[in-house]
Amino acid sequence: MKYNVLLLGSGGREHALAWKIAQSPLLGNFYALPGNPGINSLATGIPGSVGDFDLILNTVVEKDIDMVVCGPEDPLVGGLRDFLLSSPGLKKELLFVGPGRDGAELEGSKDFAKEFMSRHGIPTAAYRTFSAGQKDEAMDFLRGLRPPYVVKADGLAAGKGVIISPDLKEAEAALDSIFGGRFGSAGAKVVIEEYLDGVEVSYFVLTDGHGWLMLPEAKDYKRIGDGDKGPNTGGMGSVSPVPFCDADFTSKVVDRIIAPTVRGLESEGMDYRGFIFFGLMNCGGDPYVIEYNVRMGDPETESVMPRIGSDLLAHMAAAARGDLSSQRLEILPQSAVTCIMVSGGYPDKYGKGYPVSGLEKAAPLTVFNAGTALKDGRLVTSGGRVLALTALGGSLEEAREEVYSRIDGITFEGAFHRSDIALDMINWPGRK
Ligand code: AMP
Ligand code: GLY
Repeated sequence: MKYNVLLLGSGGREHALAWKIAQSPLLGNFYALPGNPGINSLATGIPGSVGDFDLILNTVVEKDIDMVVCGPEDPLVGGLRDFLLSSPGLKKELLFVGPGRDGAELEGSKDFAKEFMSRHGIPTAAYRTFSAGQKDEAMDFLRGLRPPYVVKADGLAAGKGVIISPDLKEAEAALDSIFGGRFGSAGAKVVIEEYLDGVEVSYFVLTDGHGWLMLPEAKDYKRIGDGDKGPNTGGMGSVSPVPFCDADFTSKVVDRIIAPTVRGLESEGMDYRGFIFFGLMNCGGDPYVIEYNVRMGDPETESVMPRIGSDLLAHMAAAARGDLSSQRLEILPQSAVTCIMVSGGYPDKYGKGYPVSGLEKAAPLTVFNAGTALKDGRLVTSGGRVLALTALGGSLEEAREEVYSRIDGITFEGAFHRSDIALDMINWPGRK
C-alpha cells in the first residue's frame, strides 16, 4: 500500500521529517501544511496555519490523505488528533502520528508531567506546584531552596516559560511576573523545582501505546554563543550520537524512564501513538527527566533523521495503527552534526528577506530550511533560525569538519553560526 501523507509544520524539524519520508517507497502523494521552500520541494505546500483544524480536515478529505504527521506540539495539545479522528467528515481510516489531547498534556502542562512521573516512580527533580492564589506559599517555598532557583510556567510558553537564576530576588521577580500574566494562561500555575546539575541529552521513541522503537539519541546546543554563552535560542546545533550514552546509560534510561513512561500511559488509558521526546539530565551517570515533549526536537531531528537506516514512514504507519511489533528501527553507525545558521541579532531583533546564496556548494551537506521563504523566485530569510546544515560522517570529528569546511560558502546578510558545535562531545572524557 502507498500512503498519501500530510505533514504539519514549517520548520527545520519538519524539513528533516519530510526528507526522510520522501525516501520511503511507501509514499504516495505528499502534502505539507504550510511547509516551507525546502519542504515544498519534496511535498505540495498548502498555505494555512496548523491551528486551523477545519482546514486540516478539509485537506485530509480533499487530498485523500491516509496519514497525518504532526511536527509541532500546539495542535496536539489543542486536541487535533481527537478532532480529526472523531470527525464524521472522514471517508476512511486515518492514521495520525501524535498523541491525543490527554497524552499531549505531558508537554502541555508541566504540573501534569510532574504528577505523572511521581505516580510512576520516574526520576525527576523534586518540585511543588502553586496556583496564583498561593503566591505567598510559593515565595516561602522558593526561599527555603538552595540556588540556582528553577521557576516554570505550567503551560506552553513557546520555550520561554523556564527561568533559572542563582539570584533569589530574580527568581521572586520571575514568580511575580508569571503570576502577573507574563505568559497568559500558561502561567496560571507555576512549578518550582530543584536544580539538576548535569549534562542534558535528548532521547526519542516512537510508540504505538504498548511498545516502542528507540530512535538515535541527540544533544542540542541551546545558547546563542560559543561555550554555551548568551541568551537561549530555539537551538543552534545538534549532534548524534552522544558519547556518554553508552549501553549502560541507555539501559538506565530504558528501565527507569522509557518503560515506566509507556507503561504509565497505557495503564492510565491514554492511547498514545506517536513520538515521545525525553529531555534528560545526566547527573553523574544517572538520568533524570527534565521535560517530556510529545513531538520530535528541533534541531535534534536534523541530526536524528540522517542516522535512521530503516523506513520511518513504515514505522509511523505501524505506530499509528497501534501495532509496532513487526517493526525494527535501524540506527546507522555514522555520526551526524548539525549547525544552524541564524540571522544577525537573533534571538532578539533581526532582519528578514535577505537573499540566501551558495546552496549549490553545500553538498555533501544536507540543507534543511528552518526560516526561509521564496520572494520573486529567490530563497530569502524569513525567520531567526534560517538553515540547518547537517553532515553525516564516520565520526563526530569528520562530520564536524565537513560542516565547518562548507558553512562559509553559504551566505546571507548578517548570517551567524556557532563555531563550537560538537566540540564538547568530541572532547568528552573517556570517549572511545
Ligand atoms: P524545559 O522547558 O522544562 O525543558 O526547560 C528549559 C531548559 O531549562 C532545559 O532544557 C534545561 O536546560 C533547563 N532546566 C529545566 N529544568 C531544570 C532543572 N530542574 N535543573 C536544571 N536545569 C533545568
Ligand atoms: N530542542 C529542544 C526542543 O525541541 O524542545
